Amino acid sequence: MLESQTIKEAVDSALEVRVVGLSGSLRSPSATRMAVQYALKGAEEEGAKIEVLDLAAYNLPYWGLEREETNVKAVGLFRNDLRASDGIILGTPEMHGSISGVLKNALDLAGTEEFEGKMVGLVGVAGGRMGAIEALSHLRAIGRSLHAWVVPAQVSIGDSVQAFNLNGEPTDPELGDRLKSVGREVAHFARLHKCENHAQFLREWETRPSISK
Ligand SMILES: Cc1cc2nc3c(=O)[nH]c(=O)nc-3n(C[C@H](O)[C@H](O)[C@H](O)COP(=O)(O)O)c2cc1C
Repeated sequence: MLESQTIKEAVDSALEVRVVGLSGSLRSPSATRMAVQYALKGAEEEGAKIEVLDLAAYNLPYWGLEREETNVKAVGLFRNDLRASDGIILGTPEMHGSISGVLKNALDLAGTEEFEGKMVGLVGVAGGRMGAIEALSHLRAIGRSLHAWVVPAQVSIGDSVQAFNLNGEPTDPELGDRLKSVGREVAHFARLHKCENHAQFLREWETRPSISK
């Protein structure tokens, strides 16, 4: 019994996934941040540990100044927090037909070390009725160039001022479901991605020489 509990704990821990979210708007309140938080709820429902990495709190420099002595710590902390994730939700406002400079700068400070092989989910927010289609398609291309797995589900939100209430809840429940489905997909595929190790763990555990005899 004790042994099987130990196996279960080891398997659970091997399959634990951490999904983090980045919002490309530093405003408060921000529809992008609310969208990211809602997508993360979906990841949580899928069993992931979740966290919003607040780009304002890192005090990140512009790309090109990251090696200045005063900036090394902030950039290192940001990159470490990203590296410690299995999946990443990227949220951006549509800004002049593309992603926000805030998010682009943060992604430029990171690289394939933080993104390669990771599951990435996208949500975009726009003031206009057309939604954030351009920003999402640019972000998908950026994800590919970072060697990430950008999951097929994505959400584009138009009319951003009406999309969320003051509590950060989507005014249309269907929008909430779609946002959560992005997070669920990221967590689900991130876990599957870890399964090879899990299968190897089980194989080696089951065939290991017994030390109790
Ligand atoms: C500089 C700037 C450029 C913008 N460009 C667009 C745009 O091209 N298309 C659009 O639909 N909305 C555009 N917007 C509106 C934002 O997408 C909208 O206000 C969004 O809600 C901002 O995100 P936030 O609420 O998370 O801060 C722009 C806003 C700003 C400030």
